Amino acid sequence: MTQKKLNVAVVGATGAVGNQMIACLEESDFPLNGLRLMASARSAGRRLRFKGNDVEVEELTESSFKGVDIAIFSAGGGTSRRFAPAAAKSGCVVVDNSSAWRMDPDVPLVVPEVNPHAIAGYTKKGIIANPNCSTIQMVVALNPIYRKAGIKRIVVATYQAVSGTGKKAVDELFDGTRAMINFLDYKEKVYPHRIAFNCLPHIDKFQENGYTGEEMKMVNETRKILEDDRIAVTATTVRVPVFYGHSEAVNVETRDPLSAEAARALLENAPGVKVVDDPANDVYPMAIDGAGQDMTLVGRLRKDISIENGLDMWVVADNIRKGAATNAVQIAQLLASDYL
Ligand code: A2P
Repeated sequence: MTQKKLNVAVVGATGAVGNQMIACLEESDFPLNGLRLMASARSAGRRLRFKGNDVEVEELTESSFKGVDIAIFSAGGGTSRRFAPAAAKSGCVVVDNSSAWRMDPDVPLVVPEVNPHAIAGYTKKGIIANPNCSTIQMVVALNPIYRKAGIKRIVVATYQAVSGTGKKAVDELFDGTRAMINFLDYKEKVYPHRIAFNCLPHIDKFQENGYTGEEMKMVNETRKILEDDRIAVTATTVRVPVFYGHSEAVNVETRDPLSAEAARALLENAPGVKVVDDPANDVYPMAIDGAGQDMTLVGRLRKDISIENGLDMWVVADNIRKGAATNAVQIAQLLASDYL
């Protein structure tokens, strides 16, 4: 049976993630009939390359979605809140990369390696949410451990690349670094403090409980994706002067005993995971290896010596690819093969 070919729209096509979504669609074997590219009025008429052809960027409006089967959104929460319902109403399925719909009980939050079955819930609102970048790579690494031994508690600290903030933040790290090494002044525009040669324990807005929005996303989204509200999660999310690739120090307390060796064997066979762990030869995952590829890299895997059932690990992935565009395109592929 030949697979039905679908019309896909990328909303936010001119942004950092949107650009990567176009590249992921180009690399994938997605059964594409036609590709539409949408952004704000500012970009209307611009041309972007896809498979050797120029595709004109259209201004996003509520009537943009006629004939579109899947719309992949990465144009910020406000745009998703405003336009995703209109897109769904016109009959297309929205895969949304913003945080706007993630915690809506009628919207599935999906990481294909972890909870692909949840996609079936898309019929309620016509929207599927793509999780937060830091959450995606953490649950890809923890899912095999969770399935085998259960998880009681997760303590995570992140080391997040500036590309997660968008293109302007990539420029800010570049320009700020250049200014520093030339003894020139540089005034920050994106972050509240200097990001060059610095670490900011501040991603997203501070909340009443002292956590940031990003930290609470990791708490709430992890529970939703693993479908287990008993998992205790605490996170400290930190922006570091790295362009691409998020790193995470993850400490996990399992319900049942699980040795580091058994965890390693599980991870070696887990979808989307690559174990990179040979400390004797200075081999461990690094942001520079995570960037530009689609696997979640896991290393520094060891028993936590401070508790009975604890493991420590270091988890790295490309925040723009697996943390955003790749995951969204994988969801679209599952929709195409199993649902539409
Ligand atoms: P535009 O380039 O026309 O402003 P980034 O996160 O890298 O800044 O990218 C954001 C993306 O979201 C861009 O493609 C941007 O388009 C798009 N976008 C922002 N606001 C809107 C809007 N109101 N309507 C449609 N697209 C938007």
